[in-house]
Amino acid sequence: MIIAIDGPAASGKGTLAKRIADHFGFHCLDTGLLYRAVARDVVRAGFRGDDTWAAVAYARGLDPATLDDQALRGAAAGDAASVVAKIPEVRRALLAYQRAFSRREPGAVLDGRDIGTVVCPDADAKIFVTATPEIRAERRFLELKSRGDASPYDKVLAMIRERDARDSGRADAPMKPADDAILLDTTELDIETAFDAAVGLILRKIGHRGALQTGKTG
Ligand code: DC
Repeated sequence: MIIAIDGPAASGKGTLAKRIADHFGFHCLDTGLLYRAVARDVVRAGFRGDDTWAAVAYARGLDPATLDDQALRGAAAGDAASVVAKIPEVRRALLAYQRAFSRREPGAVLDGRDIGTVVCPDADAKIFVTATPEIRAERRFLELKSRGDASPYDKVLAMIRERDARDSGRADAPMKPADDAILLDTTELDIETAFDAAVGLILRKIGHRGALQTGKTG
C-alpha cells in the first residue's frame, strides 16, 4: 500500500504524512530530507551549493542513515535542497531509494513534490496538500519564532514564494498535482481537521483495505 502526499513548502504535508503513517501503521519517508542531505554534504565538503558535479556525486553516495540530522531542519537547508533538486541527475540518483522504500510492508507514506507524478505514479492514494502562500508564511513565521528565529513575516513570505517558483518551475519533475491526486486545501483547516479530512479521503480512495490490515478504524 503506497500513499503519496505532495505539496509546497510549509503546507503541512510533512505533519500530515507522519500522522497518516502512524494511523495506518505504515512506514514514512520525508523525501525532502534526501535533497536537504545532498545539499548539506555538498557544502560540508567545501563545494558551492549550486555545484552540479558535486551535487550529483553526493546524491549518488548519499547515506540514508544520515537523514536524522537536526542540521537538515530549518529554512536555509530547505532552500539549499531546492537548488540541488533542480538537477535531473540528482533526482535520478535518489529515485531507487525512494521506490524501494515505497514497497515496504505493510505500507508506506512518502511526502514530497513529485511522489504522485514521478516516484510512485501507481500509488494507491495521492493527496496534494495546498494552502495560500500567505497562510503558509504565517505558519512558518510562527514556527521560526518559537525556535528563537526572528525573521520578519515579509521575508518568510518572499522565501516561500521563491521556493514555490523554483520547485514548480523546474523542467524535471516539477511540483504539481498528479492527474489522479485529490486536492486538500488546508488554508482554513487546523492540523486535526486536515488529518481527519486526509484519512477520510484515503479511506474513500482505497476502500477500507488499510484499516482492515492494521485493525485501526480511526
Ligand atoms: O519538503 P521540503 O521542504 O523538505 O523539501 C526541500 C526541497 O527539496 C524542496 O524545496 C524541493 C526539494 N524536493 C523535491 O524536489 N522533490 C521532493 N520529492 C521533495 C523535496
